[in-house]
Amino acid sequence: MKLATVILAAGLGTRMKSGKAKVLHQLAGKALINYPVDISLALKADRTIAIVGHQSDKVAELLQNNYGKQVETAIQKEQLGTGHAVMSAEKALKKHKGLVLILSGDVPLLTKSTVAKLIKKVKQKKSPFGLVSAVLENPEGYGRVLRESKNKIQAIVENRDATSEQKLICEANMGIYVADAKFLFNQLKKVGTDNDQGEYYLPDLVRMAYESGAGVVGIKADPAETLGINNRVQLAELGQILRQRILEKLMLKGVTIIDPQSTYIDADVKIKADTTIEPNCHIKGNTKIGSNCTIGTGSIIESATIGNDVQVKPYTIIEESKVDQGAILGPYSHLRPMSHIGSECHVGNFVETKKTTLKPGAKANHLSYLGDAVIGKKTNIGAGTITCNYDGYNKFATTIGDEVLVGSDTQLIAPISIPDRVVLGAGTSLANAEGVEKGDLVITRPEVVVVKGFRDKLENSAKKKKKKSTKNNCNFETRIESCAE
Ligand code: UD1
Ligand code: MG
Repeated sequence: MKLATVILAAGLGTRMKSGKAKVLHQLAGKALINYPVDISLALKADRTIAIVGHQSDKVAELLQNNYGKQVETAIQKEQLGTGHAVMSAEKALKKHKGLVLILSGDVPLLTKSTVAKLIKKVKQKKSPFGLVSAVLENPEGYGRVLRESKNKIQAIVENRDATSEQKLICEANMGIYVADAKFLFNQLKKVGTDNDQGEYYLPDLVRMAYESGAGVVGIKADPAETLGINNRVQLAELGQILRQRILEKLMLKGVTIIDPQSTYIDADVKIKADTTIEPNCHIKGNTKIGSNCTIGTGSIIESATIGNDVQVKPYTIIEESKVDQGAILGPYSHLRPMSHIGSECHVGNFVETKKTTLKPGAKANHLSYLGDAVIGKKTNIGAGTITCNYDGYNKFATTIGDEVLVGSDTQLIAPISIPDRVVLGAGTSLANAEGVEKGDLVITRPEVVVVKGFRDKLENSAKKKKKKSTKNNCNFETRIESCAE
């Protein structure tokens, strides 16, 4: 049976007090709208349609960037209620025969398995409508599930329309539904606005399904899964719950997390078994980390791919970069976007790389800037080496061959290319490698000047002049000159 998902995401989310539509707010590294979309894709729904309204351009742009053609959008120009929102997908689903799954854009903790359970039950019972409910300690604000004497679900009454007796019911409607497409769009046309908000309520379909005799199926979910986000306090609270869930999942898969209290890992991060995450790390975006790695205290890793057996020593920052097997980074290294650190490479203290490749076995252990560069296999970059890649207008490339020894405090003024096995003497400042061939030594150093006994002469002259006292206004430069004569 075909399945189409409709995600309600047209509301502004007034209580967020934000210039940004609610579904664009971030939770564990993803926008809220990504959560229901990911469930729909994981369930292999045939269609996924997000209903957009407030800031529809921005929401559609995010969906396009993240999912391309996998996700469609339908516009709800005016927000006239949840029933009206689903109607906005009718045109797009004209030919769809089968089930429609309806999810909310602001319920990010919902799991795929709960939704799968609901779909299964709707299919089994051949019911035209099913919903997820939860028994809440404080159901204030939610629609309540009304059941008749035989416990069958009869209707949903919204909080603001409920009698004081109905408000005592703790079973709440969670806004997650599965409906038969034909029933859904036929019945939605009959929904009116006779309620406190004057809106078209989607849950009115519950009474319609009950009255048709076909019956409504329900499943009860863990309340924590179904919590919605309406303000920033809830955004932070759900963030905590989600963080705990992410960390537990990783730990149960064999990742050691020394201090879960201080570890922040985004929802889409993947880490393999026997990797250890030390305290105070933030691992973000779609980072992938292999097995047997150590991520040292205070490291921040964003959208990176890290192979097996990599040691990231404390306080290292890695952004949108790739690190291959067995590399050692840090402490205090900074890999900026598009860095690629090859296998067994070392990148050490206060080394910054940007758009730079270190081929296998290359080392840059101390105090360097390597930008727009390719560093050959087993090449050693001495302390304080700088690739001078920018003239204020354009960026230029540096290429260093294999097994090159770059002496400390070398400046390579790009564009420049150094052949294999060259030795660059310490302190070299090179703007041009013309004529340099494989295995040559290159060294640029000013001539050494030695002035014998300079210090004593300087001191004696100073003493003499002091004796002659204040009459002599001889300045510092003349004193040096006279000494050096
Ligand atoms: C809804 C349910 C309520 C349930 C609760 C669970 C209705 C009438 N009530 O109430 O029974 O307990 O969810 O969280 O459905 N939206 C649109 N267009 C609209 C209106 C809403 O896209 O015209 C979207 C919102 O952006 C949001 C979702 O639908 O993502 C739910 O709307 P919301 O206004 O939050 O409904 P609730 O009052 O929470
Ligand atoms: Mg809501």
